[in-house]
Amino acid sequence: MRYDFDTIIDRTGTESVKYDLRESVFGNAEVIPMWVADMDFPTPDFIRKAIIKRAATDVYGYTFREAEYFNSIAQWITRRHGWKVQKEWMSFTPGIVCAFNFAVMGLTKENDEIIIQPPVYPPFFRAVEEHGRKLVLNPLIDTDEGFKMDFELLEQQAKTAKMLILSNPHNPVGRCWNYDELKRLGEICIKNDVLVFSDEIHCDLVLPNYKHLPFASISQEFEQHSITAHAASKTFNLAGLATSSVIIANEQLRKQYTDFLHSTEADLGNIFGKVATKTAMEKGEEWLQQLLHYVNDNIDFAVNFIHKEMPKIRLHRPEATYMLWLDFNAYDFDDNELNRKMIFEAGLGLNKGHEFGVQGLKCLRMNLACPRSIIAKALEQMKEVFG
Ligand SMILES: Cc1ncc(COP(=O)(O)O)c(C=O)c1O
Repeated sequence: MRYDFDTIIDRTGTESVKYDLRESVFGNAEVIPMWVADMDFPTPDFIRKAIIKRAATDVYGYTFREAEYFNSIAQWITRRHGWKVQKEWMSFTPGIVCAFNFAVMGLTKENDEIIIQPPVYPPFFRAVEEHGRKLVLNPLIDTDEGFKMDFELLEQQAKTAKMLILSNPHNPVGRCWNYDELKRLGEICIKNDVLVFSDEIHCDLVLPNYKHLPFASISQEFEQHSITAHAASKTFNLAGLATSSVIIANEQLRKQYTDFLHSTEADLGNIFGKVATKTAMEKGEEWLQQLLHYVNDNIDFAVNFIHKEMPKIRLHRPEATYMLWLDFNAYDFDDNELNRKMIFEAGLGLNKGHEFGVQGLKCLRMNLACPRSIIAKALEQMKEVFG
């Protein structure tokens, strides 16, 4: 079956963060929304049908996740990413943001140092700072070959840190970290007893010619020294169903994490998230294959357009995710003016780069998970102002 990613869906009035909060976020309800990381494609029909079937039953009481649920996720990860996961290692989390907050609260102490690699997903900063831990910044280095990790600095920082939160693949710069990079990062962390929380929410959105490597799959030592977060939410557009997983092979670490999780009672979960995730893991391969082709073509289209029509914008073609990280530092206006122009002159709602750390000043993140005709319209509007 050929899936349709071209039809435009009007999401306004569906309590969609991306659409219905435009006025409060941008001060302009008319911007083309290309910010929050969800997709404007329909959730696949086989998932919708499974939810509708469950919704047709009489009672929506408390639920639990049966062995087959965790098996479906474990098998997906083994099949797609070559990491043999056991279902006993897994626990439920409503969201991955919750999970890394729980890990920070349950596995580190006040004033412990936690490393993150900006520009990076904004909740990483808050998970550290809002629980009284110390934020240690290991900024990525923007080279002509793309963003790289600063291992020299990490060697120093790891000596006193307790945890590193890794975005694998990386949001917003779209790097799909390779074996050598993960190995070097892991060796530094293990040598210094720094626990790695590997947020792998974007792992199934790796683009053709790249391969996701779960951090824990590098070696048994890495597996024992890390926590992995996985979700079908980004991949299958299910974020509103608040259902994700945490995988911890190390028994002692798992107990410590799940003791904290149970103390919050946040692991009850919801019926529809469970049904949707299990269905995606069992039936989603073909749909995902087609999605990745479509997104990859969207990225080619946008990258080529920007190189040709707005060559002052610096960008690296992403290896994963459906986002572009656009750097406007070659323009002679400041960050405020950049955002004002984008919102009120170009009429586009993109994520402000500075929210990903000061490294993101004069940068913007653009979400390309939408019909190509929308991207074409958006880029024409952008060209009018920045071309
Ligand atoms: C790196 C990263 N982690 C986590 C999330 C969101 O996680 P959740 O919605 O499961 O809390 C996002 C969403 O964009 C993300 O980019």
